[in-house]
Amino acid sequence: MTSLRKVMAVFGTRPEAIKMAPLVLKLQQDPRIECVVTVTAQHREMLDQVLQLFKINTHYDLNIMQTGQTLYDISAKALLGLQGILNKEKPDIVLVHGDTTSTFIGALAAYYQQIPVGHVEAGLRSGNKYSPFPEEMNRQLTGTLTDLHFAPTFTARTNLLKEGYNSEGIFVTGNTVIDALVQTVRKEYVFTDPVLQKLDTSTGRILVVTTHRRENLGDPMSQMYKAVRDIVQEFPDVTLVFPVHKNPAVRSVVQRELGGQNRILLVEPMEYEPFANLLNKAYLVLTDSGGLQEEAPALGKPVLVLRENTERPEAVASGTVQLVGTARDNIYNVTKKLLEDDQEYNRMAQAVNPYGDGQASKRIIEALYYYWGWSTQRPESFGQL
Ligand code: UD1
Ligand code: UDP
Repeated sequence: MTSLRKVMAVFGTRPEAIKMAPLVLKLQQDPRIECVVTVTAQHREMLDQVLQLFKINTHYDLNIMQTGQTLYDISAKALLGLQGILNKEKPDIVLVHGDTTSTFIGALAAYYQQIPVGHVEAGLRSGNKYSPFPEEMNRQLTGTLTDLHFAPTFTARTNLLKEGYNSEGIFVTGNTVIDALVQTVRKEYVFTDPVLQKLDTSTGRILVVTTHRRENLGDPMSQMYKAVRDIVQEFPDVTLVFPVHKNPAVRSVVQRELGGQNRILLVEPMEYEPFANLLNKAYLVLTDSGGLQEEAPALGKPVLVLRENTERPEAVASGTVQLVGTARDNIYNVTKKLLEDDQEYNRMAQAVNPYGDGQASKRIIEALYYYWGWSTQRPESFGQL
């Protein structure tokens, strides 16, 4: 029997938790692996919702979140907090996910103790240093510290190869978000929340809206909310469901522009299970989120991305996602067109799965086996060149 290896997963925000959950659960079931979970808790309530849903017990919790935290606060607190934990646990590898500040700092903290780094969801690039900000650089900087790059798609792999990374360390695994989604969405799902239960998709249409990007705070958000308010006023069969991010800078603009309006349901951040099932019942999604650009296409739901660019071009190429920017007129016009023109809508509403097949976690663990010499076989890649 080969000796046990210790893997430490480090993450801090809601999307990282959702996307690491299937992997952590699988690692914990593996008798040859000890999986230690460390959360920075850059998010608090929004992280805890996910940990509870997936029944993930954390071994370490840095509990760093504070209202109005800056990038300096998150970076400094997470880096110092991780020092002692890594020193004590001495994992064989640290796994980080995606592009948050917890991701980059997790990788940096591991590097300072010469611990190998595995980057889940590696290689996405917008090519613009300031958009998404600071995520583009968080992801690039994490890449430079990484030993094993778990690229979700061949496009991401190509980005890494262009930057000179060695193909031996890159594995095309699919995105673990699809692992989470397929475990969560059910056709017969019934909401426990009575307000959501009352939504009738046979007589009305649900628009799901989420926003949180730092570069959209302030006027861009104000513009997008005005556009969707106009849409709801114009289309009496439309109900907008908007789980509002906890960031007070988001909340104040949401309240100002969308508070107290008919058929606009402003709700708290939803647990992942009802939220993923809400997506499945939605007509259309408007968002600046990264994860939603991956989940909604898998469910055949058109997505209008409230940003000027995206590091997730695959679903744009297949037609389910459209970049609409942040200008009020454009968002209004494109949304109106999709609500009025069935042909245009049906053209977008094709279920596509460029991001995964639900087996990403399995491939990542197979890649670890290969890396440790427990297997001579590289995992089969997800998707095609
Ligand atoms: C962070 C990530 C972003 C990711 C997003 C997912 C960085 C710099 N940003 O952005 O990449 O896409 O999470 O949602 O890493 N808050 C709460 N409770 C929570 C969570 C947040 O009250 O559970 C409030 C706090 O006041 C906090 C603020 O939201 O200060 C902003 O949180 P922060 O993590 O800094 O930024 P996000 O916009 O959430
Ligand atoms: N999500 C959720 N509840 C909500 C809104 C979003 O569980 O009320 C999930 C969503 O399905 C996706 C993830 O949170 O998996 C996206 O998180 P977010 O938009 O905060 O971050 P990003 O993906 O942009 O980094």
